[in-house]
Amino acid sequence: MQDLILILDFGGQYTQLIARRVRECHVYSEVIPWNAPLADILARRPKGIILSGGPSTVHDPQAPMIDPALFQAGIPVLGICYGMQLAAHLLGGKVERAKEREYGRVTVRMKDRSGLFGGMKAASGCWMSHTWQVTACPPGFRVVAETDNCPVAAIINEEKKIFGVQFHPEVTHTEEGSMLIRNFLFRFCDCSGDWTMNTFAETAIRQIRETVGDSGTVLLALSGGVDSSVVAALIYRAIGNRLTCVFVDHGLLRKGESDQVCHVFSHLFPVRFIRSDASARFFADLAGVTDPEEKRHIIGRDFIEVFKQEASALGKMDYFAQGTIYPDVIESGQATNAAVIKSHHNVGGLPKELGFTELIEPLRMLFKDEVRALGETLGLPRELVWRQPFPGPGLAIRIIGEVTPEKAEIVRESDAIFREEITAAGLDRHVNQYFTVLTGIQSVGVMGDERTYDYTVALRAVTTDDFMTADWARLPYDLIARISARIVNEVPHASRVVLDVTTKPPASIEWE
Ligand code: XMP
Repeated sequence: MQDLILILDFGGQYTQLIARRVRECHVYSEVIPWNAPLADILARRPKGIILSGGPSTVHDPQAPMIDPALFQAGIPVLGICYGMQLAAHLLGGKVERAKEREYGRVTVRMKDRSGLFGGMKAASGCWMSHTWQVTACPPGFRVVAETDNCPVAAIINEEKKIFGVQFHPEVTHTEEGSMLIRNFLFRFCDCSGDWTMNTFAETAIRQIRETVGDSGTVLLALSGGVDSSVVAALIYRAIGNRLTCVFVDHGLLRKGESDQVCHVFSHLFPVRFIRSDASARFFADLAGVTDPEEKRHIIGRDFIEVFKQEASALGKMDYFAQGTIYPDVIESGQATNAAVIKSHHNVGGLPKELGFTELIEPLRMLFKDEVRALGETLGLPRELVWRQPFPGPGLAIRIIGEVTPEKAEIVRESDAIFREEITAAGLDRHVNQYFTVLTGIQSVGVMGDERTYDYTVALRAVTTDDFMTADWARLPYDLIARISARIVNEVPHASRVVLDVTTKPPASIEWE
């Protein structure tokens, strides 16, 4: 049986990061809600349990509480921030408002550098974010770390293998956080550290087989992006051609993308694959439209219509599969009053529209780079697995003004040159997103003694961690010169190249 660490989520900002740090130690871990029944938790036979941080205080009548019997089950427990306070509170300690709120990087002094703190320095920079703190240890515990403002920064009961830390070992700002997590896993939880993406793939494939049964069928909307491609590969391994992938080609994909997706899912993973070439419909509906939001709405609506037609031609399917990954889960779970800057195209509502109640989402727990690692493990081509993000509405939102097949060709060809050159310069893993935009501007030029009046192509390249904010990438001048020369020489009707040097905010990454 595979080692499992369960993380009870009390609503902390960094909860999934804990899971990720554990998985980086080659131990499988999953986040579950704090109120999961104790019997269910125990039935999964976890090797250890981590109680996450969270915004609550234990004295609040609404505060999330757990069954104290959890601490009697003989399973090692590590409480982090709220998790520590909760453990202390339930086991007879005291939690009080801190005199001074601690936020940010704080030096923690370790009083005992064995066990949980084995191998760590006597004083280590740790990330803190708390208003409440433990002021008296529960019986049987001792204090093993302190800060200037927090005399009880960590508590342990080695005999019962229950630990609490006020700081966050899961964030990278905590210098030796990974060491602490390793110590918990390997010194106390007796984990073997043999989990790999391969194990994840095997488990996911087995679970899909169990869910779908011997005769069930699955429908997947394949976009050609990393997430849905990895899901397709996983489900193919589980149930072969009882999976049907529908790929709607709106004619606004990057150069070579549609053919690559077809090739992969006809040869490498030969699923039942339907490519719906709907470009004529999309171009017809986009004719004359210049407003960015209207373009987005038309594309979103057409996509659903085309998909529905293809799906109904297939007859009844039992399950709908989606490439939902962890950041999607978080984003869709958050109520937001933020202004709509752009109406994102996504197919989140598709299963409902098609009447599906049964979903298969094998990537729900993973971060993007874990999905990429899984894709490589499954044998998907590297270019597909490491593809940069590409918006659902595709090139339509990189063409300012009306979208036509001719303009799509200019942006597609110039984009291909840009991508080729960035890869050749070895920058594709350093620049997070890069593409060309067909600006609405035409300008005068001269080519072979003739006057030209052709299009201006903009280069957009950004560095970013999360795509919420971004800086423009400082590409070498020589590289920009090469790209510019190639675009004006090789792409018909592109006669001028400009560079976008705007950060996000105030500009967005895409131009529309
Ligand atoms: P912006 O332009 O808002 O883009 O700064 C941030 C990131 O989101 C991508 N993007 C989209 N992704 N559907 C998507 O799946 C969309 O409609 C969409 N619009 C923008 C964009 O490429 C960038 O990575």
